[in-house]
Amino acid sequence: MNKKFYITTPIYYVNDVSHVGHAYTTIAADVLARYHRSLKEDVFFLTGTDEHGAKVAEAAKKAGKEPKEFCDEVSLRFKKTWERLNISNDYFFRTTDECHGKIVQEILQKVYDRGLIKKGIYEGLYCIGCEKFLTENDLVDGCCPLHPNQKPTQQKEENYFFKLSEFKEKLKKAIKDKNDANHYEILPKPRENEILGKLELGLNDVSISREGVEWGIPLPWDKKQTFYVWIDALLNYYTATRFLENKEKFWPADLHLVGKDILWFHSVIWPALLLAAELPLPKKIFAHGFFTIDGKKMSKSLGNVISPDDLIKKFGVDGARYLMLSEFSFGSDGDISLKKFQTRYNADLANGLGNLVARVAKLCENSKSSFKTKTDFNLDKFIIGLLNGFRFDDALERIWGYIRENNKRINDNKIWEQNGEKLEKSLQECIYALQDIAYHLQPFLPETAEKIQKQFQGPKIKAEKPLFPRLH
Ligand code: MSP
Repeated sequence: MNKKFYITTPIYYVNDVSHVGHAYTTIAADVLARYHRSLKEDVFFLTGTDEHGAKVAEAAKKAGKEPKEFCDEVSLRFKKTWERLNISNDYFFRTTDECHGKIVQEILQKVYDRGLIKKGIYEGLYCIGCEKFLTENDLVDGCCPLHPNQKPTQQKEENYFFKLSEFKEKLKKAIKDKNDANHYEILPKPRENEILGKLELGLNDVSISREGVEWGIPLPWDKKQTFYVWIDALLNYYTATRFLENKEKFWPADLHLVGKDILWFHSVIWPALLLAAELPLPKKIFAHGFFTIDGKKMSKSLGNVISPDDLIKKFGVDGARYLMLSEFSFGSDGDISLKKFQTRYNADLANGLGNLVARVAKLCENSKSSFKTKTDFNLDKFIIGLLNGFRFDDALERIWGYIRENNKRINDNKIWEQNGEKLEKSLQECIYALQDIAYHLQPFLPETAEKIQKQFQGPKIKAEKPLFPRLH
């Protein structure tokens, strides 16, 4: 039996189409899924869309559509975008899937029956943009810092509350104690400390239902209310393994990849909910950083939103994948810009990799010799270590180190001036190197890796169109 590896991305809100923030998490997850498949693990890679709640209902209304019809359209656009980006998810999840709703009801009924859900009055501020209750401490100038243009609404209603406060000690132990049966890791480590620090301050019970939001899954014990969108959404990771065939063995998830903005939900509320439902906890939760664009927060009102398709159009699918992951390290915040992307594209893809492939192919074609194909590959130990540590940028840098080395060797030895056996030997060395580079590029740039593999399959090698045309 192969080792199993279950990896997830957050499921994305369908109030709007996808942007590069969504693509960022999804590309990283795809690289890891492909990497684990290359290790011969049995991988289940899940992504999808989060479709219930006030924010989506509001967007549907604005578009003059029924919520489901609206969700079908936007969700399909996410799905198609991920297909264009060559995302290898095994399933595309939608929270409006009926099978999901039934299991959500079943699980929460169990939590209710165990006495861990109670009725209470919720009074406070709610940010629809975040789909989150806010406290006075969260506010900046009276507004949610993430949605300064949208005034938080004052809400008072009778809701059901999950007794999160009862789980403080259990969660602390599960995080800290490696031998705890429920042990899970929060990564990068400084984030774990942040969460432990917050846990130390105490936990409030959380409202898990809404009286005024119709667009959601009804509570099985009180049909007048629907589940709070986050509760329904988090459960997707588990329900998928229940209603899809042969996926049960994948629970618990090995890795939830999330942005730092939603780490609290994933590392505190989600594990507590699973404990309450007597289900096993995920093994790792990794929170990546946020990027700004030209130093500014990406936002519709600033008009600086970049869509995944903008990137694909300009840099190609693999160009987009490469640029997103190489610019800054995955756990940190960073800044991106189309200008920086273009410079890096020209340097690393057009000149670095593209040029190496083109010149070796041309020399092989001109030589008219027959060449051998490399058949056995070993994944570089450093790259294994780097990928296990989520260091995509460093792993790419290591591969680009080989690329530069090869370009340099060709220059230093002036291979183009060689002939006869010497030239054949030099070229064979380059071919082996390129086949090895392609092998290591597979998880990151799958299409390019395949093209290189095909192009340098012996015996006869031909020049082809440039992989990454130079941009001006
Ligand atoms: N629907 C919830 C997740 C539920 S998971 C059970 C949600 N959706 S979202 O559509 O808002 O987007 C989620 C992902 O996009 C997060 O991982 C978030 O961090 C990421 N990003 C959105 N903007 C981003 C940046 N500017 N930079 C990096 N990632 C960003 O939250």
